[in-house]
Amino acid sequence: MSKLSLDRILQSQGFGTRKYCRALIEDGEVAVNGAPHSNYKTTFDTEDLVLTIFDEEWAYREHVYLALNKPANFECSRKPSHHPGVLTLLPEQFTWREVQPVGRLDHDTTGMLLMSDDGPFIHAQSSPKRHVPKIYQATTQDPVTPELVAQLLAGVKLHDEPAPLAAVTCIERGEHQLEIVLEQGKYHQVKRMLAAAGNHCVALHRSAIGGLTLASLGIAEGEWCYLDQSQLDLLR
Ligand code: URA
Repeated sequence: MSKLSLDRILQSQGFGTRKYCRALIEDGEVAVNGAPHSNYKTTFDTEDLVLTIFDEEWAYREHVYLALNKPANFECSRKPSHHPGVLTLLPEQFTWREVQPVGRLDHDTTGMLLMSDDGPFIHAQSSPKRHVPKIYQATTQDPVTPELVAQLLAGVKLHDEPAPLAAVTCIERGEHQLEIVLEQGKYHQVKRMLAAAGNHCVALHRSAIGGLTLASLGIAEGEWCYLDQSQLDLLR
């Protein structure tokens, strides 16, 4: 349990600078657990606290854990150069709280992207030691063959990698459709593995991370949701 002044609470949740948060409170735009408060010095226990700001409710969260159903043509990098960044798909306060993608998807890859402002979580989740399976649906230019599947399972050599990289599982899902499960997260890994195996990836979608599937979240392309503890447990 922690007690914080109302201006600090708003700032911690990403509603702006301390000065701006104080102004919001003094202007009567803020309620706590349903009751309006205009003194920014008042302290509150943050547990189970719900803020109402401009008539919208926000439960207090020490950290946020989100899943985004990433559309194509959005970049995961901090300083996007050719397309808008994925943060533009989230409410503005998540940028203020320094929410970041957990790992990256290419600008043209769609599907599940985890995002958080919890540094140790981001670090642990991205660690190569963790072996969290990531499930991709790849559309190939040339038809999928048993040889292609065998090569991806046996491992292919990528030019800047010391050892061959192999898919954990690789299943033909259609004439041009492959489901590939990887435990590493190397740069352009699926695309480069398919190219090394003599095919070409024309579209890529991440459908799950660990036991957490995008389908189970029920979010449309471009939408996001909070992840609760039971969903986070599925990422292990
Ligand atoms: N592999 C790729 O090639 N691209 C991605 O976005 C993710 C995995």
